[in-house]
Amino acid sequence: MPKVVVLPGDGIGREIVPQAMRVVQAVIKDSPVKLEFEEHLVGGAAIDAVGKALPDETLKACLEADAVLLGAIGGPKWDTLPTAQRPEVAALLPLRKHLELYANIRPVRMLPALVHASTLKQEVIENVDMVVIRELTGGLYFGEKGRKDNPRSAYDVMVYNEDEINRIVRFGFETARKRSKKLCSVDKANVIETSRFWREVTLEVAKDYPDVELTHMYVDNAAMQLVRYPKQFDVIVTENMFGDILTDLASMLGGSIGMLASASLNGQKGLYEPAHGSAPDIAGKNLANPLATILSGALMLRYTFSLEQEAQAIEQAVEKVLNDGFRTGDLAQPGDKVLGTVEMGDKVLEALGSR
Ligand code: IPM
Ligand code: MG
Repeated sequence: MPKVVVLPGDGIGREIVPQAMRVVQAVIKDSPVKLEFEEHLVGGAAIDAVGKALPDETLKACLEADAVLLGAIGGPKWDTLPTAQRPEVAALLPLRKHLELYANIRPVRMLPALVHASTLKQEVIENVDMVVIRELTGGLYFGEKGRKDNPRSAYDVMVYNEDEINRIVRFGFETARKRSKKLCSVDKANVIETSRFWREVTLEVAKDYPDVELTHMYVDNAAMQLVRYPKQFDVIVTENMFGDILTDLASMLGGSIGMLASASLNGQKGLYEPAHGSAPDIAGKNLANPLATILSGALMLRYTFSLEQEAQAIEQAVEKVLNDGFRTGDLAQPGDKVLGTVEMGDKVLEALGSR
């Protein structure tokens, strides 16, 4: 039986992951694909329980699984640990690296019901529908890093090799081919050498995709264009750190970071997680928006298990709940019906049932 490793992690991760699991289990109930779910420890929760953010047993289970569903990692309790022991660095990054999840997909779509949840103007954001593809296992996050004395200093090295750029850019072109055949590669080629090389390799790969219109944009300009006129974008491909920053920015084009799902892939194998963090300020209070995790569950059905109809059923159920006016706090306007995490999960299940 195909296996999904479930890693609730820390903070609101423990509340939102169960909601995503309920929804995924409900939607595949009548499908021929049966999934086995197995829960493991990760992050601060694992440090507290077994003294290690990514226990060997967890890593082994993830390597053997078909997919991993993750909540969130980290929190103030572990913030003062040395960098190498922090849950984000000691668990999330090695997990991405060991599973070779080089392609991170973050779809940003403005659902009509949420136009007013965003702080941006309606005419700028309505009908936004784009995908950001972020390189996830290279660049600054994984380069050599350290400290030196005299003068006191710190360094992080940014390296990209040809193969790393080639495969992610190719992934971008393939994605663009299935959408509107427009790909924007974001770099900082006016200054940074890795970016100049990124652009060079991208132009080489482009020869295999004459049907896709390729543009290049500097990352600072891309940040500005994303809020000025986001509808010019369809598929963006970029390196790890630029992608991290631009996707938080882009999440506001979809109403809230609480809506931004993500898939980190290596072929069919994938790790699925909301793009937001563990939100310690609201953790344990049944306040968190579970929709990004529920939508990540939909991405899991789509990309790992090829259950497109079931994935769409979840996406439509989420849209229906929002169209019916239900909101978690992050999406609410004065006068809205505000639901807790569990109640939002209930509503999505109800909407699925009424298909
Ligand atoms: C993300 C997060 C992570 C990242 C953190 C938690 C390490 O911000 O997935 O975007 O920077 O990749
Ligand atoms: Mg981020």
